[in-house]
Amino acid sequence: MATVADNTLDAATARMVIEPKSYARWDGLLDTFDHVRQTMPVARVTPAQDGVFDPFWLITRYDDVMRISKDNATFLNHPRSVVFSLTEGIEFAKHLTGGSPHMVASLVTFDGPIHMKYRKLTQEWFMPKNLRQTEDEIRKLAHRTVDRLVAAGPDVDFVTQVSAPYPLHVVMQIMGVPEEDEPRMLMLTQQLFGGQDDDLNQSGLKDLPPEAITQLVAGAVADFEQYFAGITAQKRAAPTSDVASIIANATIDGEPLNDRDMMGYFIILAAAGHDTTSASTAGAMLALARDPEQFARVKADRSLLAGIVEEAIRWTTPVQHFMRTAACDTEISGQKIAAGDWLMLSYIAANHDPAQFENPRKFDAARSPNRHLAFGAGAHQCLGLHLARLEMRILFEVLLDRLDSIELAGEPLRSNSTFVGGLKTLPLRIKAH
Ligand code: HEM
Repeated sequence: MATVADNTLDAATARMVIEPKSYARWDGLLDTFDHVRQTMPVARVTPAQDGVFDPFWLITRYDDVMRISKDNATFLNHPRSVVFSLTEGIEFAKHLTGGSPHMVASLVTFDGPIHMKYRKLTQEWFMPKNLRQTEDEIRKLAHRTVDRLVAAGPDVDFVTQVSAPYPLHVVMQIMGVPEEDEPRMLMLTQQLFGGQDDDLNQSGLKDLPPEAITQLVAGAVADFEQYFAGITAQKRAAPTSDVASIIANATIDGEPLNDRDMMGYFIILAAAGHDTTSASTAGAMLALARDPEQFARVKADRSLLAGIVEEAIRWTTPVQHFMRTAACDTEISGQKIAAGDWLMLSYIAANHDPAQFENPRKFDAARSPNRHLAFGAGAHQCLGLHLARLEMRILFEVLLDRLDSIELAGEPLRSNSTFVGGLKTLPLRIKAH
């Protein structure tokens, strides 16, 4: 892997970083990030062909990713896309929105005081104390999901049976969406955010000509708006304890949220809450399937579960990166960064930095401290992190009660995606009662 003198990554390594298919080959990807971190921790990534994507700085050290995440005045979310995208994707978003690189305006695309105002609306709702009231409902969903898994056994795909549908049910429940509407919501989020993996993205977008895609995405936004206008009316007339009721009845500076901002809130929750938790849940199950002793230990002693959940989130790092834009000229680990430069915070690389985590590729449920960056840090740190931990803990409590043993029944496959990624299949043989 050659590097050139001015801190620019060589073309082959740059390709690995930006191509979705590299993210399906986990060990190779971790090798690449290890090499980049060691040789060029703040690395310039440029396209082989002008204009394919905007050059950016790849940040791979834990300390650098932490520092940038916490300095929300110097490193902004708004000006450019917060997710790596080729120029054509960004142009497409601009075309649809009338100039903004963000398909949807939401918490992740706001900065400064306005971001805090929007975040505060639901922050309390997502705290552990409040989430306790959702536990019974989540447990019911976990039982239903595990019942289905056991009925489908002994040979099952854990992703299809459990780790994909369960977090989707949870997030739809807190948003007041009835189960029969879930497939429609799933399709709409896929149409809006165009998943990169063909097996997972059922929206059919990739086979269509550009005008048809524009129409479809615009239709998905309109459909989403119409759907949540219904939910909003319902939650205004008869508020319940769910987060949809908080959003529907929220005010900022004394005014109710306008339709666009309300939709942004619903859309970010719908999109952020399921693929992420699905990936860490599947990762936890893979770690247990590979280590029967660990499975037996946690089955006998549930106090070990919290460590397994936290380590699974680090070990899988479902959100693989976010982007930031420098607000002014600055420096990172001695490298000059100019105002307007785009930066990729590689959470995968940060969470596998040996300077922070001993033997980082090892799944170590007893790891302590485990201050990983899978949920980010600073003003934008994941709003749903307590919910993600809670739903994983409840699911594994139910799974461990019902399962006597699990073993891998085939090679698990990872998805092709630079942004949110993880297992798309996890073939298991289960013994259950
Ligand atoms: C933001 C990861 C689950 C809602 C984020 C960020 C990351 C992340 C890395 C950006 C942090 C930053 O910029 O510093 C994860 C992971 C999850 C998970 C790994 C599961 C294991 C959830 C769930 C929800 C959720 C269950 C809610 C239903 C959000 C929201 C934001 C966010 C609303 C934007 C916060 C803001 O910009 O202020 N998440 N997330 N996430 N997440 Fe999560």
